[in-house]
Amino acid sequence: MVQFTLPRGSEPKPGKVWPGPTTANGKKPKRTKDFRVYRFNPDDGGNPTIDTYRVDLESCGPMVLDALIKIKNEVDPTLTFRRSCREGVCGSCAMNIDGKNTLACTKPISEISGSVKVYPLPHMSVVKDLVPDLNNFYAQYASIEPYLQTKTPAPEKEWRQSPEQRDKLNGLYECILCACCSTSCPSYWWNSERYLGPAALLQSYRWLADSRDEAKGERLDRLEDPFRLYRCHTIMNCANTCPKGLNPAEAIGEIKQLLVKRSV
Ligand code: SF4
Ligand code: SF4
Ligand code: FES
Repeated sequence: MVQFTLPRGSEPKPGKVWPGPTTANGKKPKRTKDFRVYRFNPDDGGNPTIDTYRVDLESCGPMVLDALIKIKNEVDPTLTFRRSCREGVCGSCAMNIDGKNTLACTKPISEISGSVKVYPLPHMSVVKDLVPDLNNFYAQYASIEPYLQTKTPAPEKEWRQSPEQRDKLNGLYECILCACCSTSCPSYWWNSERYLGPAALLQSYRWLADSRDEAKGERLDRLEDPFRLYRCHTIMNCANTCPKGLNPAEAIGEIKQLLVKRSV
């Protein structure tokens, strides 16, 4: 039987159990939750560890991000993660919580039974703790040229669109580029250098579906490749995990249909 092993130094080891909280009168708080958080510091040369923090839920906001901020502010300032908007619109707090990629700022702690396991997005190089290296992800996004391209002279006022044409962008424009989908996709795990992945492909279709865009042929030319598009095997992890409820697999299917249509 084939045996898979993790690369040396990547297997998480048990980490520090941080002292639990106490209330103002020195007693133990009534409602606590353990957070088991992936820690990795490339500068110390060691394996990643799983640290345990006990959080007083009575004095914590309702979301996993609230707990991480509380830990950083009150217990361990070295804990590193990205966040900005704290309301599900910037995409920066994407991480793997309780086994699923999602946004820490919109994931209620109350939905998780037992301890809360928090890891970085899977199959990405880790910069530190919960911060993945997204350079390749953003380069792939740039490669699909995510902006309106036109050939006819610009109108005096604006590029017009009918309500029906505009409706075609629903389910596409809402993507916040959090990378939850791409990092949940097995095809992307194994071919992330060459397969664009569900996020970049959904964004690519967002421009292919735009009635105002006049670079459809060139866009399709760039996608017609055994790896960039066709590594999608409709496994559907992307649609199951998207915290915005989008369906990248469907968008990828639409691109494939456009390629078939132009070949007949
Ligand atoms: S499609 Fe969804 S999961 Fe993927 S990057 Fe966009 S918002 Fe995130
Ligand atoms: S449907 Fe395609 S893009 Fe989505 S997870 Fe599966 S292989 Fe990846
Ligand atoms: S902090 Fe912006 S999406 Fe979570």
